[in-house]
Amino acid sequence: NYIRNKCCRRPNKSNILYSLFPTEMLESNNLLTFNGLANSSAYHTFLLDEERGRLFVGAKDHVLSFNLVDINLDMQLISWPPSPSRRDECKWAGKDVQRECSNFIKVLQPFNQTHLYVCGTGAFHPVCAYVEVGKRPEDNIFQLGSSSFENGRGKSPYDPKLLTASMLIDGELYAGTSADFMGRDFAIFRTLGKHHPIRTEQHDSRWLNDPRFISVHLIPESDNPEDDKIYLFFRENAIDGEQTSKATHARIGQLCKNDFGGHRSLVNKWTTFLKARLICSVPGLNGIDTHFDELQDVFLMSSKDPKNPIIYAVFTTSSNIFKGSAVCMYSMADIRRVFLGPYAHRDGPNYQWVPFLGRVPYPRPGTCPSKTFDGFESTKDFPDDVITFARSHPAMYNPVFPINNRPIIIKTDVDYQFTQIVVDRVEAEDGQYDVMFIGTDMGTVLKVVSIPRGTWHDLEEVLLEEMTVFRVVSLNISALSLQQQLYLGSTIGVSQMPLHRCDVYGKACAECCLARDPYCAWDGSQCSRYFPTAKRRTRRQDIRNGDPLTQCSDLQHHGNTGGSQCNRSTVYGVENSSSFLECSPKSQRALIYWQFQRHGEDRKQERVLGTEQGLLIRTLHQKDSGVYYCHAVEHGFIQTLLRLTLNIIPTEHLDDLLHRDTTDINDPANGHKMLTDTEIPVNMT
Ligand SMILES: *[C@@H]1O[C@H](CO)[C@@H](O)[C@H](O)[C@H]1NC(C)=O
Ligand SMILES: *[C@@H]1O[C@H](CO)[C@@H](O)[C@H](O)[C@H]1NC(C)=O
Ligand SMILES: *[C@@H]1O[C@H](CO)[C@@H](O)[C@H](O)[C@H]1NC(C)=O
Ligand SMILES: *[C@@H]1O[C@H](CO)[C@@H](O)[C@H](O)[C@H]1NC(C)=O
Ligand SMILES: *[C@@H]1O[C@H](CO)[C@@H](O)[C@H](O)[C@H]1NC(C)=O
Repeated sequence: NYIRNKCCRRPNKSNILYSLFPTEMLESNNLLTFNGLANSSAYHTFLLDEERGRLFVGAKDHVLSFNLVDINLDMQLISWPPSPSRRDECKWAGKDVQRECSNFIKVLQPFNQTHLYVCGTGAFHPVCAYVEVGKRPEDNIFQLGSSSFENGRGKSPYDPKLLTASMLIDGELYAGTSADFMGRDFAIFRTLGKHHPIRTEQHDSRWLNDPRFISVHLIPESDNPEDDKIYLFFRENAIDGEQTSKATHARIGQLCKNDFGGHRSLVNKWTTFLKARLICSVPGLNGIDTHFDELQDVFLMSSKDPKNPIIYAVFTTSSNIFKGSAVCMYSMADIRRVFLGPYAHRDGPNYQWVPFLGRVPYPRPGTCPSKTFDGFESTKDFPDDVITFARSHPAMYNPVFPINNRPIIIKTDVDYQFTQIVVDRVEAEDGQYDVMFIGTDMGTVLKVVSIPRGTWHDLEEVLLEEMTVFRVVSLNISALSLQQQLYLGSTIGVSQMPLHRCDVYGKACAECCLARDPYCAWDGSQCSRYFPTAKRRTRRQDIRNGDPLTQCSDLQHHGNTGGSQCNRSTVYGVENSSSFLECSPKSQRALIYWQFQRHGEDRKQERVLGTEQGLLIRTLHQKDSGVYYCHAVEHGFIQTLLRLTLNIIPTEHLDDLLHRDTTDINDPANGHKMLTDTEIPVNMT
């Protein structure tokens, strides 16, 4: 009787919640796509211009300008193919006419109030030009400044397969790229402007070792612009001897904006270049960490303090066997600490890399010349010992670890990998949330929010939506951009989609609440866009817990009176094995919502997986024992389908049990089943 009355009562708050989406939600709609050019047009270079309300896209032989409101509204196009003679030269050099001997746009940057700076591969002969876009949106200008073509060496790569990471600051172009026909001379350049071009040391693998550049950012170090630093993200081969096998490392590099090279040595070379490894890894079962080293993309989430953006980075694994992706988050404080730490040092090619413990010359290599601080006006005034040290110690010994020392998202055992990320900070009723839009090599976008569990440093990831954008298998989403809309580029087209589609979360308060989408709230009659300024009392939203019972007062809770509609059962699981708690709704449209009665404990969910058929718990722990509720939520009704008691048998008691009369235990009439092997799901009756 006691049990019967308790069954299906309102479960306590602060329980584990898992919600699953009806499959229809994976379908995309509200999607606008442009693929007016040929299919392999490589729409890979994006520039979002909010002032003019345009999205500029660099593609194969074209620069395009789209209306941010609707990319199909008034698209403008500049055709910029290589000349026939250039194309012929490229062909004679043994290159593929279609895939290589075109002008693939790699650099697209705002230059001044009226012009953009654009560079392309120019059929293996990099070339740059100015594109006039007018001062105001209504000028409606979009044309190539035909007079002034410039040599694109050190700005765009020759080979379209290679990337450039670039940024134009104060009339100067910072670019990480390869600067030769063979694609071997990789460097970080500063070109344009009134100063002599400057680059990284050539043919020195300690500086750069076959790098692939991802992005460039300016981050101020202090309120004094003399300390402004340029940060570059890239991946490269690990330095010889740094690791036994050939491996890739993810890197962050730094430079001073006011670096003009050395006076006697490192002339027209950076004197303030330093790099550090970015770690994104998880502990493995065998005690060896699994590293995600293939840096794919970086997004800087700016905060009120421009000196301290949060860095979101997407990684994949190098291994062919273990395919996985991860997102790690880094703080500028951690990065600066590593650049102020020991330099990596070795006495010769056959020595180990060790932290440099000797005397570091003054000013410390990597520090920007600054009148106020160190009294040096220019890098050309640096003493010789500083330059000599900087040349031989470009790498830091310590790596940068992510916030919380682990990824915020890991995806393994799936047949896709992450390629791109953009992040939007959203104001919700119960705080600010970072919503991540992650592009994949399957042409899909995952919309994920990380929600603090107990503290801000313990984050739970919630997948909000998975949207198919390009219906082609194995298509990298290679450019993502954010305004009030999400813009996506790929080899075949450009797409646009809204950041939120609150109506897909159903027609009832409970569904809206369970979705935990910070963009959306129940307004009393529908799930709609949440605006923090709107009248508060009428809005129903609970991102942190997603608990419809506290939010939706109109919620009809079936089954909390009689208890007869709800099935109860008990299941036994052996410690360290897996258990499957089956519960599937009769209706395809219902959301399944699990609650587990346990207070204030760690709610790590890596071991727990919600599926359409039920809840899979891997590696059972003692603390998993307890009462689980399975609720179905549909059209504002919540129905408790199952109340399930999970008992965990400690492994040390297993032998005792097996030596007893085993027929009792295995008799299904008792309502008990034993798990004696891992990974075998138990079917509940
Ligand atoms: C582009 O690719 C899509 C998907 O593979 C195909 O359906 C379409 O016919 C192609 N269009 C052109 C112009 O080649
Ligand atoms: C911007 O740069 C272009 C190319 O150098 C130049 O023709 C134009 O006059 C400049 N515009 C302004 C407003 O300075
Ligand atoms: C997608 O990107 C990954 C990583 O950059 C690359 O290895 C792969 O070849 C790309 N796939 C396609 C189809 O472009
Ligand atoms: C169960 O797992 C825990 C933690 O991984 C381990 O310490 C323990 O030895 C395991 N017990 C058995 C019997 O495998
Ligand atoms: C409880 O179990 C019975 C028998 O398996 C089934 O017919 C009934 O639909 C179940 N009730 C609920 C609410 O799932």
